[in-house]
Amino acid sequence: MQFQLTHLTRQFGSNTAVDKVTLDIPSGQMVGVIGRSGAGKSTLLRMINRLVDPTAGSIRFGDLEVSSLRGSALRNWQRDCAMIFQQFNLVPRLDVLTNVLLGRLNHRSTGLSLLGLFTREERLMAIAALERLGIEQTALQPAGTLSGGQQQRVAIARALMQSPKMILADEPIASLDPLNAKIVMDALRDINEREGITIITNLHTLDTARNYCERIIGMARGRVVFDGSPNELTAEAVHEIYGADQHGSGIDETMTSTSINISRQDNEARAIPSPGLRTLAVAEA
Ligand SMILES: Nc1ncnc2c1ncn2[C@@H]1O[C@H](COP(=O)(O)OP(=O)(O)O)[C@@H](O)[C@H]1O
Ligand SMILES: [Mg+2]
Repeated sequence: MQFQLTHLTRQFGSNTAVDKVTLDIPSGQMVGVIGRSGAGKSTLLRMINRLVDPTAGSIRFGDLEVSSLRGSALRNWQRDCAMIFQQFNLVPRLDVLTNVLLGRLNHRSTGLSLLGLFTREERLMAIAALERLGIEQTALQPAGTLSGGQQQRVAIARALMQSPKMILADEPIASLDPLNAKIVMDALRDINEREGITIITNLHTLDTARNYCERIIGMARGRVVFDGSPNELTAEAVHEIYGADQHGSGIDETMTSTSINISRQDNEARAIPSPGLRTLAVAEA
C-alpha cells in the first residue's frame, strides 16, 4: 500500500516546523530520518500518527486521507501506525506483560478495554512478542524496574501487539548504551525484514541510519534536503543536512554508539524457555 505525503506542513505560530514535505514511501521500506535538533523530524512523525494536526498538505495511505480522519477511523489509523518513543512511554508500575497487552486496547471496544479482560490468544501473543525480543523473563516485573534497553524492547513488543502496518520510531536509541542500541535497531530491522512492516525512524546519529536504513531522508529547517540511499549520502549531502558544526569542521560519523561492534550476547538471553510463563498467562485468562 502506497504511503504518500504531499506538501505536508506544520506551523507553530510563525515558525514552520515542517515545510511542504512531499514523500512517497512504498510498503515495507526501512527509512531513516536525520537532521539537526529542531529540523522537524519529530513533528513529521507526529503528524503521520496524527498526534499533531497538519496545518496544510495531505497524508495518504492507499485510498485513505489520513489527515481528515476523525473518531474511530482516527483511532484505527493510530493502531495501524504504532509509535515508539525515545523515553519508551510505558506505564512503570504495571508489569511488562500488561504493558505489552495495552497494545491491544485499540483493537477492542471500550467496554472490553478493562485490564484483566484480555483473551487467552492475546496473552499468548504478548508472550510470543516478549520471547521474540528476548525479554520474556521480565514479563511479571514492573516495567519501571527494567533497564532502558529492556524497556524499549517492551515498547516494541507493545507496538507489535497493535499488528501495525507501519512503525514510527522517534529516536528510539537516543537514551540507550551501545549494546542496547544495537539490540533495539536489530529488532526493528528484523521486524521490517520478516513482517515487511514499513519503518520510519528518526535517528540522531548518521552511521546508525547508514547501517540500518535502505533509504535516508535528511531534513533541515523543516524541509527535505536529501532523499536517497546510504551510498548517495556524500559528504556534501551531509553538509547540506547538518551544516558545519559549531567548530566549523566536518561531521563526526563515529560519535554514534551503534558503530561499536558488539558480540551478540543477547542471543544467550533469548534461549531461555518459558513454558511456566505461558501456562501462567493462559491460566490467568
Ligand atoms: N508543540 C510545539 N509548540 C511550538 N513549537 C514546536 C512544538 N513542537 C515543535 N516545535 C518547533 O518546531 C521545530 C521542529 O521541532 P521538532 O519537530 O521537535 O524537531 P526535531 O525532532 O528535528 O528536533 C522546532 O523549532 C521546535 O521548536
Ligand atoms: Mg525530535
